[in-house]
Amino acid sequence: MKKLLDLISEEMGKAFAEAGYDASLGKVSPSNRPDLCEYQCNGAMAGAKQYKKAPLAIAGEVAEALKESEVFSQVTAAAPGFLNLKVKESFLCEYLTEMRKAEKFGLELPQKSKKYVLDYGGANIAKPLHVGHMRSAVIGESVKRILRYCGHEVIGDVHMGDWGQPMGLVVTELQERHPDLVYFDESYTGEYPEEAPFTAAELEELYPTASKKSKEDEAYKARAMENTFKIQSGVRGHRALWQHILRVSVEDLKKNYKRLNVEFDLWKGESDVHELIPSMVEYMKKEGYAHESEGALVVDVKEESDTKEMPPCMILKSDGAALYNTTDLATIMDRMDKFDPDGILYLTDKRQELYFEQVFRCARKTKLVKPETELVWMGFGTMNGKDGKPFKTRDGGVMRLETLIDETNEEMYRKIAGNGELPEEEAKETARVIGLAALKYGDLSNQASKDYIFDMEKFTSFEGDTGPYILYSIVRIKSILSKYKEQGGRLENALLRPAQSGSEKDLAMELAAFGAAVRGACEELAPHRICAYIYDLANAFNRFYHETRILTEADEEKKAGFIALLLLTRDVLETCIELLGFGAPERM
Ligand code: ARG
Repeated sequence: MKKLLDLISEEMGKAFAEAGYDASLGKVSPSNRPDLCEYQCNGAMAGAKQYKKAPLAIAGEVAEALKESEVFSQVTAAAPGFLNLKVKESFLCEYLTEMRKAEKFGLELPQKSKKYVLDYGGANIAKPLHVGHMRSAVIGESVKRILRYCGHEVIGDVHMGDWGQPMGLVVTELQERHPDLVYFDESYTGEYPEEAPFTAAELEELYPTASKKSKEDEAYKARAMENTFKIQSGVRGHRALWQHILRVSVEDLKKNYKRLNVEFDLWKGESDVHELIPSMVEYMKKEGYAHESEGALVVDVKEESDTKEMPPCMILKSDGAALYNTTDLATIMDRMDKFDPDGILYLTDKRQELYFEQVFRCARKTKLVKPETELVWMGFGTMNGKDGKPFKTRDGGVMRLETLIDETNEEMYRKIAGNGELPEEEAKETARVIGLAALKYGDLSNQASKDYIFDMEKFTSFEGDTGPYILYSIVRIKSILSKYKEQGGRLENALLRPAQSGSEKDLAMELAAFGAAVRGACEELAPHRICAYIYDLANAFNRFYHETRILTEADEEKKAGFIALLLLTRDVLETCIELLGFGAPERM
């Protein structure tokens, strides 16, 4: 289905043509003066010069041509040459009726669907998930769902940090504590135990301890580097230990991502490409892309037009070790090879901007990608505390994601348990559902690139631009619908009718804007556009609800018309929150 605005513009274009002007002047936009009209067209002013005629005169002729229009209930020419417009309720009703019948509410799908690899999540092995990783997962998951809904193919890859120094640190700390572990016996040739020599809880504590020690103790640090090298170069015992770290860590990560309703297609990591590195390095050298600089191997990525500093992309350190860049470039090569995608999209915090610029330039220069391959980096801002500084626990530590989720759920539980309407078990489950919406909506409703302040009180509130408010609106609709059924009403039979009140028409107009909102979110990779849309939609619904006697309406057909409108509102809202990555409870 075409977007409502496009249909309206077409009608306007026809009128311009009929009055003897260029049809392209009929472009309509939402009104700047909602008190006067719903839409406006400035084409008469745009055409005045070309036709050497007063804009108001042109506008008058166009308005005349629209006298019998099926689309507009009002077309007024206003000085100096505006066309102020209102759409007919019957036209809007027909549009929504089609939307209800169509798949995906008539969303226009692209001619050619694209294939993307989406690199998000980015968890690091052996470190618990912190709030910093929440944004990548939450925004990425929504971007993935939006792209898919709009007809594209998306392969989501968590791209774990599983190959660097942290692994060596953990192994070093294990060695300190248990030097007799068979993994460290280089003469051992037997099978290694299946059980890891540590628990998930222990693993969590190993890394911070080791990291702290390595900053204070040079010898410790040197051992950690050696252990990292041993893992990477494939020393048996070290590899086996690393496998344990990976497995225990991934299990824990999966649990956490599940709580966030985030799901990856691929659980790959930096380590998955390490075997590709030697051939990639060879290729870069052979083709003359890479050269030595102070012992390291680098690719220059500076361009004439650069105004900022653009350091070369380092491929190998002077000791021959691979870097974050190296694994990212090899991963690009691997992805091109395995999936031949139209684009690769990355979600990381804003601080990695220069880094990705270097990597992308290097990938293009060395022809790891095709000239037309899209490489897109989406940088997101920091989640801050109320003090405006990066979010911390009460005692100043880094907040674990688990703790944040628990605390949000507890706060939600306090809020809904208070009204005592739900049995305890259901209240707990419901608090979990609303809690997730509070967290995710609180994050996604901000433009991703901006920092935002995590405000528990605000995010969990049932009023204002929040997840709970959206869910509350959905639950309210569900409750009206089930009462209607209890009264003997049949939802399947409910037919839309032309709106009869201002608030009913406003709600209808918001519903009609669905396609534009979703398409916009997809083109801009911007979940916040969906949030802004459903906030407007929920507001329009609540105004309608407060101004209308729905279930007590005596005219059955009229009542059924209201119900049909609510059904569509519920479906659109539920579809949108699905795109954001959370769901709604049946009641609250
Ligand atoms: N593990 C990285 C970090 O914590 C994020 C990985 C992002 N993806 C990538 N392909 N570099 O910063």
